[in-house]
Amino acid sequence: MKLIQIAAAAVMTTALLPAAAVQTHAAEAEMPLLRADVNGDYVINTQDMVLLSRYLLGGGELTAEQAERADCDGDGTIDTFDLILLRKSYVRNAIEDPQGTYICESSEGTRYVWFGERGEGSYADITADDSVPFTHSKWGDEIELHSSAEESISAKISWLDGERFYLKSSGAEPELFTHKSDVPFDKGPYLIGEYVSDKGRSYTLNWLSGSCGSEDIKVLPMKTRAQFIYSDGTYKTGGFSRMDKFHFTLEWEDGTVENFTRREITVKDGITYVNGVLIANKTYALPSTYAPGGLLPEFNTAFAKMQAAAKQDGMSLSICSGYRSYSYQAQLYNNYVARDGKTKADTYSARPGHSEHQSGLAADINYAGDWFNTTPEAKWLAENCYKYGFIIRYPKGKDDITGYKYEGWHIRYLGDELAGLVHDSGLTLEEYFSIDSKYSY
Ligand code: DAL
Ligand code: ZN
Repeated sequence: MKLIQIAAAAVMTTALLPAAAVQTHAAEAEMPLLRADVNGDYVINTQDMVLLSRYLLGGGELTAEQAERADCDGDGTIDTFDLILLRKSYVRNAIEDPQGTYICESSEGTRYVWFGERGEGSYADITADDSVPFTHSKWGDEIELHSSAEESISAKISWLDGERFYLKSSGAEPELFTHKSDVPFDKGPYLIGEYVSDKGRSYTLNWLSGSCGSEDIKVLPMKTRAQFIYSDGTYKTGGFSRMDKFHFTLEWEDGTVENFTRREITVKDGITYVNGVLIANKTYALPSTYAPGGLLPEFNTAFAKMQAAAKQDGMSLSICSGYRSYSYQAQLYNNYVARDGKTKADTYSARPGHSEHQSGLAADINYAGDWFNTTPEAKWLAENCYKYGFIIRYPKGKDDITGYKYEGWHIRYLGDELAGLVHDSGLTLEEYFSIDSKYSY
C-alpha cells in the first residue's frame, strides 16, 4: 500500500488545488530521472548492479532508457565510473535519512509530510487544516511508516540529490518528495496567526490555509518563499523574510514588498489586548471599573531591579506618579482642560479611561515635565530601560502616532522579551503592533 493512500484514508478531503496552482507544480510533478536505477523500478539495488556489471563485461545489452539511467555521472558513456556511483547511491540511500518538511507529489495529489528527528512525523493533504501523526523508522534503504489509522507500510527510499527522494513501495507508483522546510508544517511560528499588512489587507494564516479579508486562500509555505493561492485560482509567490516573532515580509515577484504585522486583538472584561498585551491609548480605553489599585507586582519587581542598576551608574530614579484611578485621571484631565483648553490638553494628558497609569503598568520617573528630558537620568532611561522590561512610551517626534508629545519620563512595562523587541525595532508600541491611537469622540 502507498503512503498516499494511507494519508487519503485518514485525511477526509482530497480536493484538488486550483488549476493554476497545479500548473506551478507540473514541473516538479514530472518524474525526474533516477540515475543508477538501471531497470527503472525506482529502487536502487543489486538487480541494477547486476545489469550494469553484466553490460560492462560484455554479457548483456541495455535498452535506450536503461542506458540513460545507467549513465550515473551523465557523461554520455557507460563505464566503471558509473558502477562506482551506483554503489555510492546504494550506500547513500541506506545512510541518509529524510528530515524536515517535504512536499510529496504523486499522480493522486500533493501532500506535506514532516519527518522529525526521533521517529515522529505527520502529514497533511495540502488542502486540509489537520495533520495526521505517524511514526517512522529506517532500516537500510527501507522506511517503515506507521499511522494509527492504518497498518505499517514499508517503502524503499532513493535520493535524487540532497533535497529530493523517491519513495517506492511494491505494487505502487513512486512518490516524489521535495524538501521544503526544516520547520514542522503543523508547528512552529512560521505562517500562523492573524496579520495585517501595510497594503491594508488582513490575513488569517494557518500554515497551509487561511484567509485574506473574507476570501479563503491556500498557503504553500516553502523554505524561503511562500505562495498564496486565491479562490479564483490565481496565485502570488513571494520571497519570505522574518524580522521577529511579530513581523515578516513577502517580496512578491512583481517587486512589491508587503510587510506583515501579527495583530490579534482580543477584548476581555472590557480591556483590549493586542497579542496578549494590555493596551490603553486614545483608541483603546480601559473600563472605568478597572482599578488594580496600585502598580502591578511585575512592574514593581522590574523597577526595583532597574533602580538598583541605575544607582550603580550614579543615577537616581524614583516614581513621581504611578497608578492613577479613573476618577483621579478625570480630575487631572479636567484641570488641564480648564487651564489650557481641550485641544492642548489632549496633546499631553489622557482622557479618563485612556491613561496607561490606570493599568498599573506605567509610571512617570522623577519629574513629569520637559525639564526631565534634559537630565542624565532621561538619557540613561532611554538607553537602558528595555533591559528591565520597560519602554519609553511616547518618544520624540512620534506625536501623531502615539497621540502624545514627547515624554521621556513615562515608562511602560512590557516584560523583558517584548520590551527588547520593541526597542530593537526602533518603533513605538502603536507602530510595532500596527494599531491606532486616535479618539473617536
Ligand atoms: N501623560 C499621559 C499621556 C497620561 O496622561 O496618561
Ligand atoms: Zn505618564
